Amino acid sequence: MACSSCHSHAREDVEAYLLLPKNELCISCHKMDCGCAGKGVIHQSQAEMFRGVEGRGALGIPSKHFGQMQGSCTPCHMYRPPEAGEAVLTEGGHTFDAPVSACLPCHQGGAEALVAQRRSEVESLLAQVEEALGAVPSELQGSPLYQDAKHNLDMVHGDGGWGLHNPTYAKALLEAALEMLQALPTEER
Ligand code: HEC
Ligand code: HEC
Ligand code: HEC
Ligand code: HEC
Repeated sequence: MACSSCHSHAREDVEAYLLLPKNELCISCHKMDCGCAGKGVIHQSQAEMFRGVEGRGALGIPSKHFGQMQGSCTPCHMYRPPEAGEAVLTEGGHTFDAPVSACLPCHQGGAEALVAQRRSEVESLLAQVEEALGAVPSELQGSPLYQDAKHNLDMVHGDGGWGLHNPTYAKALLEAALEMLQALPTEER
């Protein structure tokens, strides 16, 4: 991506000459209405999942990282080890990946086990919601309950495939979706 997607010489007032402050920059593109897919299609949802907003039928729950990181994605995605100085980095920094080293300051030994645990919890709910959605007869698929449940499912899928930026909110969204779908008659009943 061009430097000018994020930086401008005209923005002397903002840290690092950024077009937007750090806590607004990444979410200005990595959001549900990114314009990068069809209208109404949820292609990505990192902004909403990180902030814990825009779900249907569930209370908002910001990511457990949101407050500590002052609403910014950069502590994970642009991590620069204190000892790196001015060196060009092979991970972290402007590679925009989120390396294990970025987790170590807070998760001693890394967060892989925690990620795996949360992922399996979310994926078990994802399977239940997908099955319940599949059981709704086509004439009811235009109903608000079906649409809201599908919205929640798409939000979770839009975030790394399984809600990785906020597993707690992902579970709340999917539990709300299940409740909504249980209120609809299915083919079997
Ligand atoms: C996707 C957005 C994005 C793009 C593209 C981008 N930067 Fe940055 N850049 C940032 C952010 C955000 C920071 C602040 C990082 C921080 O404080 O953690 C930053 C910081 C910097 C800094 C301050 C030192 C540092 O590394 O923290 C320099 C210099 C810099 N960028 C140069 C560049 C150049 C040159 C390019 C193009 C090759 C570029 N940037 C492309 C987002 C971007
Ligand atoms: C001007 C819009 C824009 C901004 C601002 C922006 N991004 Fe992106 N980002 C993109 C696009 C476009 C892609 C490529 C998407 C793709 O390939 O599907 C991308 C890709 C990425 C990827 C790789 C995704 C993958 O599938 O591998 C990460 C991680 C990422 N961005 C994080 C960030 C972070 C962190 C910031 C803020 C520092 C940021 N982006 C700011 C538009 C943006
Ligand atoms: C600035 C400190 C900090 C950094 C850096 C950090 N975390 Fe966390 N993380 C936390 C805190 C605090 C919690 C909440 C712990 C709790 O609730 O017991 C948390 C919780 C989590 C959770 C559980 C979320 C949930 O909703 O249950 C996961 C998964 C996680 N972190 C993964 C990561 C990964 C992966 C990285 C690195 C890419 C990382 N963390 C970096 C502080 C951090
Ligand atoms: C707690 C650390 C952490 C924070 C904070 C965080 N991310 Fe991530 N993000 C990760 C990890 C870990 C991955 C998966 C590993 C990777 O692809 O580097 C990831 C993956 C991604 C991807 C690729 C998703 C895909 O489908 O593969 C994008 C895009 C992204 N993050 C954007 C963001 C944006 C935008 C924010 C802020 C709203 C953010 N991230 C905040 C840790 C974090």
